[in-house]
Amino acid sequence: MRKPFVAGNWKMNKTIAETRDLISAMTEKLNEIKNVEKVVCPPFISLQTAHELLRNTEIGVGAQNMFWEEKGAFTGEVAPAMIKELCDYVILGHSERRAYFGETDALVNKKLLAAQKFDLTPIVCVGETLEQYESNQTSQVVSAQTKLGLADVPADFAPRIVVAYEPVWAIGTGKASTGEAANVVIKDVIRKSIAELYGESTAQAIRVLYGGSVTGANAKEFFSQPDIDGALVGGASLKVDDFIQIVKQTQ
Ligand code: 13P
Repeated sequence: MRKPFVAGNWKMNKTIAETRDLISAMTEKLNEIKNVEKVVCPPFISLQTAHELLRNTEIGVGAQNMFWEEKGAFTGEVAPAMIKELCDYVILGHSERRAYFGETDALVNKKLLAAQKFDLTPIVCVGETLEQYESNQTSQVVSAQTKLGLADVPADFAPRIVVAYEPVWAIGTGKASTGEAANVVIKDVIRKSIAELYGESTAQAIRVLYGGSVTGANAKEFFSQPDIDGALVGGASLKVDDFIQIVKQTQ
């Protein structure tokens, strides 16, 4: 049985003061919802605040990115050991990082290996663009992203990876995929690619999330699918009631 997983990707939103307010407003209710792994991912600069506020709760903290090198002359980057002091999770290869910051599958893979080394649970994002979707390249693109991004980790670490299937055309657009369509990609492309890398039992053990315009109103449609284990939530994770509503839908 895969434990449901819901993470809020705050993206570049909320100051430190706003982070304190948002986390304080959602902690108690979120903490009451059991049997689901809950994670918030604020910007780097607010991770310390999130870490302190959530220390004695069952809500985890994640970073939205990290560098793969351990230390040194890499201006503006944040190292795995720095993340590990404040977080147990890290989002890797988000489509916005791929689109605006040139992240490739090879680079995502380096970051994944660094996450493994520093004992961070990686949330690896994959998903096709609108253009790729419209030209029927979804399987090919998502399969390549999964196989290249997830390659070469030790077999005992592989089941800990969380994959988020986020069709780029569904992110921030209000046009979510359907539960059925997302489930097909997750089952026939993502789990199949993982099985080719690490075998069927690992493919069945890894949690795979859906992301892209998830709301309290449509979350159940995704969570009721057999191969969808939760959600990576953007916009709705910034609203207390919406995020709690989404997490509740895993029950
Ligand atoms: P939205 O939920 O705002 O569409 O964002 C999804 C996402 O990119 C989460 O990582």
